[in-house]
Amino acid sequence: MIVVQASTQTRAVTDVDSDAVVVTAFEDGFSPAAQEVDRALDGLLTEMRDGKELSGKFAERTVIHTLGRMPSKRVMVLGLGKPKQLDTYRLHNAFWFAGAALRKQGAHSVSAYVDGAVVDAIHGRNGESAAALPDTVHAVATGLALGNYQGDSNKSEKKDNGPGIESIAVGGLDGRPGVDEALRQAVILAEATNTVRAWAAAPSNQLTPTLLAEAAQKLFAGTGLEVEVLDKAALQREKAGALLGVAQGSDEPPVMIAVRWDGGAPDGPRLALVGKGITFDTGGISIKPSAGMETMKFDMGGGAAVLGAMWAISQLKPKANVIGVVPATENMPSGHAYKPGDVLTSMSGKTIEVLNTDAEGRIILADGIEWAKRMGATHIVDVATLTGAIVVALGHVNTGMFTNDEDFAAMVARASRRGGDRVAPMPMHPEYDVALTSEVADMKNIGGREAGSVSAAVFLREFAGELPWVHLDIAGTVWNDQGDLTVVPKGPSGTPVRTFVHLAFEFAKQ
Ligand code: BES
Ligand code: ZN
Ligand code: ZN
Repeated sequence: MIVVQASTQTRAVTDVDSDAVVVTAFEDGFSPAAQEVDRALDGLLTEMRDGKELSGKFAERTVIHTLGRMPSKRVMVLGLGKPKQLDTYRLHNAFWFAGAALRKQGAHSVSAYVDGAVVDAIHGRNGESAAALPDTVHAVATGLALGNYQGDSNKSEKKDNGPGIESIAVGGLDGRPGVDEALRQAVILAEATNTVRAWAAAPSNQLTPTLLAEAAQKLFAGTGLEVEVLDKAALQREKAGALLGVAQGSDEPPVMIAVRWDGGAPDGPRLALVGKGITFDTGGISIKPSAGMETMKFDMGGGAAVLGAMWAISQLKPKANVIGVVPATENMPSGHAYKPGDVLTSMSGKTIEVLNTDAEGRIILADGIEWAKRMGATHIVDVATLTGAIVVALGHVNTGMFTNDEDFAAMVARASRRGGDRVAPMPMHPEYDVALTSEVADMKNIGGREAGSVSAAVFLREFAGELPWVHLDIAGTVWNDQGDLTVVPKGPSGTPVRTFVHLAFEFAKQ
């Protein structure tokens, strides 16, 4: 799973000796490296293009054996589609497909060639000239490295695919400063992403709240991050009635994982990342239908992304203060379970009338947000697999973004463009507010059937209070299970871990 090294490839594509080289093609033409390959192979690529076997369409992967005409055994021509449509998300996904295919073919060393046209396309989309090169390199290298992730760790008979892709070299950008540094960062971003993916994919019996906390502590050991795990007794002392209320139906005790990175001025602003850590969501007494319930093992994907980001931050060391908070529990039906009609008193003192025990994510986040405030947060981003409604609205392509502060949301959006995640702004007009008014408590935990993602956000906004706050609903983007969505890789995505790392750097600038 670990990419051992990434480096600048200074050799020409026709001189390099890797298990595989990747060259790119747009729909409107071959890249310079692809043209060199074409010449070395006596016009094979041109002939294939003329024969309509190679078009450069997005994520097209054509593998050609070089039969000794080039030192590398194989060349993959990777389609990048239309230059105008290329952003870091698409570039990252294309190279992710490439990495997965090359790993399957047993490639351990891969040299990927990109060129100025790709950097220009990214520049055009992101608008920031200084960032275009690192953003491009990150997308290419992290994409390839994500191909190393394998989802079959529970099979008793292991397929022997070897160690996977061990070295990645990026060529075609000679002379541009910053490639090596970007590659160093990319290795860390990729490792963080693959860690988050593995956690999201872990079955709930192998990743309980307690085991998640242990895994996080193991990951953070020796990093300089300060970690505190509040166990059930501590949560009772802190009156975390929202988290405890959801947890009471489960035999697994809840935890709140809190991590601190003090990279900025002690009295400077403090960014909090708060992630939903439901290690399994049955729905509780408002139980979910059995078909598809197994997918709810990924209901801690937001929490995983927070923990992965904190690890990457500890490695990349932005000059910012960042805290990560993950309230974690199962949501189970039992004789101890919380029930519709129950009223919970959250850590903040606000009371919640529970009308549906399946709307549990927002409840535990209420205490997560409050804990982040007590840790000194000045800005809050929460991330959660929160609503089925956001999957209906945006599918698996965009995370829904809600905010009470447009400037802060713009910062998150910028970080997502750099990180290769997609976020789409969602509305929070005051007309939506009434949906949560309760007759018996400060608010109820569900609105009506309509605009379900917005009412969930309205609920969370109450707990953020006056602080600048962004909510990311990743219910659709945490995992792509749509086979017909062929241009988005299937399985766990790790989103928005790279966005969070970029956000920490953006945050350091203010
Ligand atoms: N974890 C689910 C949301 C979810 C659904 C994530 C599908 C990924 C895919 C969440 O806890 C939930 O059950 N939400 C309910 C809220 C409803 C009861 C208001 C939902 O979306 O149906
Ligand atoms: Zn639920
Ligand atoms: Zn849930």
